Amino acid sequence: MTAPLLIARDLRRTFASGGRRVAALDGVSLEIAPGETLGLVGASGCGKSTLARVLTRLVAPEAGSVHFMGADWLKLSGSRLRAARRHMQMVFQEPLAAFNPRATVAGVLADALRIHAVVPKAERGAEIARLVDRVGLPAALAGRSIRNISGGQRQRVAIARAIAVRPRLVILDEAVSALDVSVRGRILDLLVDLQRETGVSYLFVSHDLAVVRAVSHRIAVMDAGRIVEEGPAAEVIAAPSTAVLGRLIDAVPRLKGKPQA
Ligand SMILES: Nc1ncnc2c1ncn2[C@@H]1O[C@H](COP(=O)(O)OP(=O)(O)O)[C@@H](O)[C@H]1O
Ligand SMILES: [Mg+2]
Repeated sequence: MTAPLLIARDLRRTFASGGRRVAALDGVSLEIAPGETLGLVGASGCGKSTLARVLTRLVAPEAGSVHFMGADWLKLSGSRLRAARRHMQMVFQEPLAAFNPRATVAGVLADALRIHAVVPKAERGAEIARLVDRVGLPAALAGRSIRNISGGQRQRVAIARAIAVRPRLVILDEAVSALDVSVRGRILDLLVDLQRETGVSYLFVSHDLAVVRAVSHRIAVMDAGRIVEEGPAAEVIAAPSTAVLGRLIDAVPRLKGKPQA
C-alpha cells in the first residue's frame, strides 16, 4: 500500500463564543491517499472550514499534528515550508475574495507560475494558454479582469491557479456551492478529469452530500467538531450509521430511495 499523502491526527481548535469556548475541531483525524478524493460533509457550523483552514495553515490548531508528503507539516518553516506549500492548494467558495479583482486572468496565473518557478519564464505565456484551455475557458478570457467574468468562470480560474503549480493536494471548500447546477456539473467533471491526468488528491468539502457523492472515493461525515462516520462513498451512503448522515441523505431526494447494500 502506498503511504498516505496527508495524515492528520487529533486536531483540536476552539473559538470564543458568548463568553464560552466552542470546539470547532474536537479531535479530528483523517488520512488522504495519493490520487484519492476524500469528501468531507456535514451541516453548516460543524467545523469543515476550520479543518480546511487548519490543514492549509490559515488557522493554527491548539493540539494535534499533520504530516504532509512525509514532513511534519505544521512545524515546517522557511524554504522547506515554501517548497511544500506549492503542493497544498486551496479553492474557496467565493474566489473573488481570494483574488486581486483588478488582476487579469493571465496575471493571476502568471503570478502562480512565477512564485513557484513552475516553468521557465520564456514558456510562461504558453503555459497560461494551456491552463486556460484546460479548464475550459476561451482563450480571449485571459486578458479580462477577474471582476469582469462570471462566477463559474472565476471558479475555473481558481482551479487553474491551483493546478498551475502542479500540487499533490487541492482542498476545495464549498468550491462549487455558489454555482448553478449545470456549471457545477461541468466543474465537477473537470476536477475528476484533472485527477485522472495528474494523480492529484482532493479534500472536497461541502454541506451538500449529492455533490460530495459525485466526486469522492471516500466520505467522512462531520458533526460538532468530530468525524462521526467514514468509509468508501457508496458504502457510507448505502448504510448510514449515524442520524447526522441520515439527515444529509434525506436532503438529497435522488439518493433516498436507493436499495440498502
Ligand atoms: N474565526 C472564528 N471565530 C470565531 N468562531 C469561529 C471562527 N471560525 C469558525 N468559528 C466557529 O466554529 C464553528 C465551526 O465553523 P466552520 O468551521 O466555519 O463550520 P462549517 O464550515 O462546517 O460551516 C462554528 O461554531 C463557527 O461559528
Ligand atoms: Mg464552511
